[in-house]
Amino acid sequence: MPTVLITGANRGIGLEFTRQYVDDGWTVMACCRDPAGDGALELRAIKEGANERVYIERMDMLNHGSIDAVAEKYKGTAIDVLLNNAGIIGPVPIRDHLYAQHFGTIDYDVWDTVIRTNTFAPVKMAEAFAANVIASDQKKIITLSSTVGSLQEDRTAAFCYCTSKTAVTKAVQLMSEVLRDKSVIAMAFCPGYVKTRMGVGGATVEIPDSVTGMRGLIDGFTMNDTGSFRRFNGDTVAW
Ligand SMILES: NC(=O)c1ccc[n+]([C@@H]2O[C@H](COP(=O)([O-])OP(=O)(O)OC[C@H]3O[C@@H](n4cnc5c(N)ncnc54)[C@H](OP(=O)(O)O)[C@@H]3O)[C@@H](O)[C@H]2O)c1
Repeated sequence: MPTVLITGANRGIGLEFTRQYVDDGWTVMACCRDPAGDGALELRAIKEGANERVYIERMDMLNHGSIDAVAEKYKGTAIDVLLNNAGIIGPVPIRDHLYAQHFGTIDYDVWDTVIRTNTFAPVKMAEAFAANVIASDQKKIITLSSTVGSLQEDRTAAFCYCTSKTAVTKAVQLMSEVLRDKSVIAMAFCPGYVKTRMGVGGATVEIPDSVTGMRGLIDGFTMNDTGSFRRFNGDTVAW
C-alpha cells in the first residue's frame, strides 16, 4: 500500500486526512508539533487502532531542524504523497485579532509567523522530502493553499494570511517546474470554507466532505495536473 506524510495531522483537515488514509490501508507518517499533548489525543487513538501503519512524528513548521530530523529518520523511504496541510490564520479567536491583519494596524510579528508557517514551511518540506517522493510510485506533493490567496477570485483584506497563501501557491507552481523532469506532481488545493478551528463562523463545508473530495482528486492526478490550483470539489481556482 502507498505511504503518505501529513503535517498538522492532529486536528482539523489533517486529522481527517490521517483517518481516511489509515482506513484505506495506507501507511501514514502523521506529523504534529506535540504528539504527547492533549491536542493529539484523537491522533493517538487512530494509531492505537492501526498500530504498525501509523507513525506519529514530532514536527514544528517553525523549526526547520525538526523537519530535517524527520527527513533524516526516513531517508531512503518512499513517500507517495507529501501532504503540506499545517497552517495558521494568525492569532485566534480571529474576530478579536482582525486588527493584526488589517491595513493601518498590521502586526508584523504576526505576519512573519504566518508567512514562515504557511509559505516557508511547505517549501522546506518539499526540499527535505523530495528524494522520498521521487523514489515513490505516485510522486505527489500536495499543498493546502486557499482561495483567499487568489488575485482574481478574492479581495479579503487580511494581509498576513492572504499573502501567505498567494506566495505558497506561486511556490507550488515553481516546484512543479523544477521537479517536472523527475515526474513529480506538485499541486495546490483550496479545501473550501471548512468547519475547523480555522474555519469557524461562516464555514459551510464539513471536514469529511472536503477531505473525501481532495483525496479522490489526489488519486487521479497525473503530470497534466502539475502546477495547478484546485478546489476540493474539482474546480480550478483562477488565480
Ligand atoms: N478551514 C478552512 O476553511 C480553510 C480554508 C482554506 C485553507 N485552509 C488550509 O487548510 C489547512 C488546514 O487547516 P484547518 O482548517 O484544518 O485548520 P486547523 O483546524 O486550525 O488546523 C491547523 C493544523 O496546523 C497545525 N499547525 C499550525 N502551526 C503549526 C506549526 N508551527 N507546526 C506544526 N503544525 C502546525 C495545527 O497544529 P496545532 O494543533 O499544534 O496548532 C493543526 O494541526 C491550513 O493550511 C489552512 O490554511 C483551511
